[in-house]
Amino acid sequence: MGIRPFIKQRLGLDSLNDVLLGKPVGEDVNWLFTLGSLSLLLFMVQAVTGTVLAFYYVPSPDYAYQSMEYIVRDVTLGGVIQGIHHWAASAMVIVVVLHMMRTFFFGSYLAPRELTWIVGVLLLVATLAFGFTGYLLPWDQKAYWATVIGTSVPKDIPIIGPYITRLLRGGEEVSALTLSRFYSVHMLILPACMMLFVGLHIYLIRLHDMAGHWREDHPGKSRKHPFFPYSMFKDSVVFTAVFALILVLALVAPPEREEIAGTLDPAYQPRPEWYFMWLFQLLKYFEGKFEAVGSLVIPGIGFLLLLILPFLGRNRSRNPADRPLVSALVVTAFLALVYMSFLGAADSYLPYGKVATIPDRPLHPKEVKGVQVFVDKDCAYCHHILGRGGRREGPDLSNVVAKDRSKEWLIRFIRDPKSVNSWSVMPKYDFTQDELEALAQYILALDFDTYHPRLVDRQKVLEGRIPVKQ
Ligand code: HEC
Repeated sequence: MGIRPFIKQRLGLDSLNDVLLGKPVGEDVNWLFTLGSLSLLLFMVQAVTGTVLAFYYVPSPDYAYQSMEYIVRDVTLGGVIQGIHHWAASAMVIVVVLHMMRTFFFGSYLAPRELTWIVGVLLLVATLAFGFTGYLLPWDQKAYWATVIGTSVPKDIPIIGPYITRLLRGGEEVSALTLSRFYSVHMLILPACMMLFVGLHIYLIRLHDMAGHWREDHPGKSRKHPFFPYSMFKDSVVFTAVFALILVLALVAPPEREEIAGTLDPAYQPRPEWYFMWLFQLLKYFEGKFEAVGSLVIPGIGFLLLLILPFLGRNRSRNPADRPLVSALVVTAFLALVYMSFLGAADSYLPYGKVATIPDRPLHPKEVKGVQVFVDKDCAYCHHILGRGGRREGPDLSNVVAKDRSKEWLIRFIRDPKSVNSWSVMPKYDFTQDELEALAQYILALDFDTYHPRLVDRQKVLEGRIPVKQ
């Protein structure tokens, strides 16, 4: 027996060939149907480049940043490989979303392919989870702060929320343990889930065949060609074009690196990766008691709708024109996501919050100075006042009076938070004694049991246009 027949027979390639490479595919399966294979090929690019990065990367706060620097500077082709890994991650999110849109508009998600769709939604979640966990690994400022915000989201879940946040972080704060956890999720758990889901997804696609065009009388349906080389050719052309683009981006626009996590920079504005920008923006619309609406309720409902999409609506026609309600819902949701992402991106370069909260009485000059420093340094980014302000880790400062803090305590704390709480995550600033006293005075003025609150425009505060007690 020759070597080819031997291999074919021993591995059962003939029967496998019928389901894999030889599978007939209709001509109505057009170029848009390459998006699924493209997602898979991009995942493979991530697996290969990620493995190379893992040869050098050290997942500890002491070395993570430096090891990334080493990869980019000293490892042969290290910068390009990291660039490809970075850009292919973004490309993958785009391609997966486009693939889902194609599936939706061609009605490929309807019976009998509901399970293929549901597994696809899980693949989207895994892709986003890869992005979220991978974002922390370079351990720079944006990595750190995006993770602080991201891991605080589950806190809003009643009762178990705080435990989930602890579980994600490996403690109260984002620390070395968080880095280890994210690394192992990124390198072990997610790849395993991904392979399982991809296997299931492909199995289901083979079982039910590619859906092709929604028109049953489409002339392409009867003209069939074997998957290899007919479909594979299209897949290769599209992949080559996309990979070339990623390579060019990796060469001309290497990923930006910010300073190492924990660098003192009071004006620092955290930003998530672009594909989480809509969530970041959504969080800003809901404050205080309603925070959970933005962080959990709306995204949760969206996710559930996405999962049960194949079962929504009574019309089972694959033509999108026959499913106007569901189509309108999907288009609206998509446009809303894009719009909010743009708002979030535009906003993340502006200082946080447009108003400051003061007691409704003429302020002492010291207090005026205090609110100016407070606004100028964007303390509101972390601290709410009466539930209004940014969303990060600090306590609501309208409670400080109730906690009976003295002026001296406040000054000592703000001057060097770690001297009071060794685990403090609040940044240390370079304030003069005068500014410290002003800040303390302003915080002590936030006594809303005695005075009503008043909102003043940020610009007014900075220009010193608030009423002063003579
Ligand atoms: C990066 C987020 C962050 C920023 C920015 C920030 N803080 Fe904080 N702050 C915290 C956290 C978190 C705490 C809670 C205790 C801790 O971790 O030390 C805190 C605690 C405090 C407290 C003590 C409250 C109490 O009664 O326990 C004061 C006062 C305070 N911050 C003032 C300020 C001022 C003034 C600014 C601006 C100059 C500021 N913070 C900026 C995160 C921040």
